[in-house]
Amino acid sequence: MLVCHCNLITQKEIEDAIIVMLDEDRWQLIVPAKVYHAMAKRGRCCGCFPNVVETIIRVTEEYHGRAGGGDVETVTYLDRVRALRDKFGSKFIERRYKGHRAA
Ligand code: FES
Repeated sequence: MLVCHCNLITQKEIEDAIIVMLDEDRWQLIVPAKVYHAMAKRGRCCGCFPNVVETIIRVTEEYHGRAGGGDVETVTYLDRVRALRDKFGSKFIERRYKGHRAA
């Protein structure tokens, strides 16, 4: 499934990039720009970022679940990952904020 129409990036490519980053450092905080940088791409309209954030959260939770997560350190880390929704969630779509009106 195509997630980023500007860069033609699929869901699988994003998942694979996240797993490679987690293999390098399972505690790093992964954000959409970091994923795109790892794939030598850039966010253009950034309308895909909310979906990328949900993918980051899902893949990270699964990764740490397989690694036997559940301790305090893992729970705290996953809370930080889920907090990305506040920064890059649906409010972020196409960089339009609530007060923005074109006309
Ligand atoms: S849809 Fe991904 S940058 Fe535009």
